[in-house]
Amino acid sequence: AVGAQRLMSTQSDGINTITIFGAGLMGAGIAQVSAQAGLKVILTDVTDKALENGMNIINKSLVRVGKKQQPDDIEGYTRKALANITTTTDPEQAVASTDLVCEAIIESIKVKRDLFAFLDKKAGADTIFASNTSSLGISEIAEGCTEDRKALFGGLHFFNPVPAMKLVEVVRTDKTSDATFQALFDVCKRMGKVPVACNDTPGFIVNRLLVPYLLEAARMIDRGDATKEDIDIAMKLGAGYPMGPFELLDYIGLDTTQFISDGWVDKAKAGVLPEALVAPTQSIAELVKKGELGRKSGKGFYDYT
Ligand code: CAA
Ligand code: NAD
Repeated sequence: AVGAQRLMSTQSDGINTITIFGAGLMGAGIAQVSAQAGLKVILTDVTDKALENGMNIINKSLVRVGKKQQPDDIEGYTRKALANITTTTDPEQAVASTDLVCEAIIESIKVKRDLFAFLDKKAGADTIFASNTSSLGISEIAEGCTEDRKALFGGLHFFNPVPAMKLVEVVRTDKTSDATFQALFDVCKRMGKVPVACNDTPGFIVNRLLVPYLLEAARMIDRGDATKEDIDIAMKLGAGYPMGPFELLDYIGLDTTQFISDGWVDKAKAGVLPEALVAPTQSIAELVKKGELGRKSGKGFYDYT
């Protein structure tokens, strides 16, 4: 049924329906830009509460976009986009008839790999699989899938906040087929994004440069080199960054940052990354331990309550 659906597609990339796993910061944003582009979206998470959180993020953001896109009828704009989104907590149902799966769940290799191995058995034979991972290897995430699926597997790395950030890194492994890569590239353009091509290397382009910078900023306060407030002011006024590193760490989520750096410590042990670049930081670890994860939990380096 899925095959027939893709053949009937009017889009050159063959993608009419996208299933998104994870309704957090990123999944909600990806669902939103997909719905705005006219794709049918199935948004899925493990609990109804998480789905509700995702839909709240989408509702608020759609109003911001609607104010610019359709100022005379913001409600009409949001209603039209929302009509393209359905939600479910049933992963099997979520992939029963879909053209593209985009995963944006917790940054854990085991959880992602297990999810895709399960979905491989449940999704149609020609459904494309993509991960929005920040730091993990796409090939490693695809490990539990069949060889046929590996040809349909790539990375779709969006940036936070998804509705405002233009870039998507489209990642190909040595098994990703040309047709899969092209379909992923094209669907990004339909979402109004600017795609760039990346090989399956740690952090792709942006995070390979950005994450070491953020971790070194955290080490600066661990060492007492400067205050977080001064570092943020310095990078905004001295380097022209829209946010200072601590504002950005809070924006990304400190749990996600900790997952990234923990995963990269293992890569450094394996000699793939320089150890000094990814050494863990005390300040981030302490906040994560307290459940202070950044903006999404109301508190991180700064207080948002
Ligand atoms: N939904 C919809 N639109 C949004 C939005 C949202 N959540 N957040 C911002 N926008 C839009 C605004 O409506 C506004 O649009 P216009 O210019 O058309 O009016 C525009 O974005 C700018 O927003 P604001 O004027 O409200 O605020 P700002 O100028 O301070 O910009 C920002 C906000 C875009 C978030 C900016 O601070 C910024 O670029 N910060 C850095 C973000 C960044 O580096 N993201 C990457 C994080 S790393 C990552 O994502 C990868 C990873 O794997 C960890
Ligand atoms: P988040 O914590 O905001 O949301 C993660 C969501 O995934 C939660 O709602 C959680 O309930 C859900 N989830 C966990 N396990 C699941 C499963 N098995 N099935 C379905 N849903 C599940 O995290 P986020 O910031 O949206 O990050 C998600 C992914 O995107 C991570 O891989 C992260 O590295 C990546 N990413 C994050 C950013 C960022 O700035 N936060 C940017 C780009 C990429």
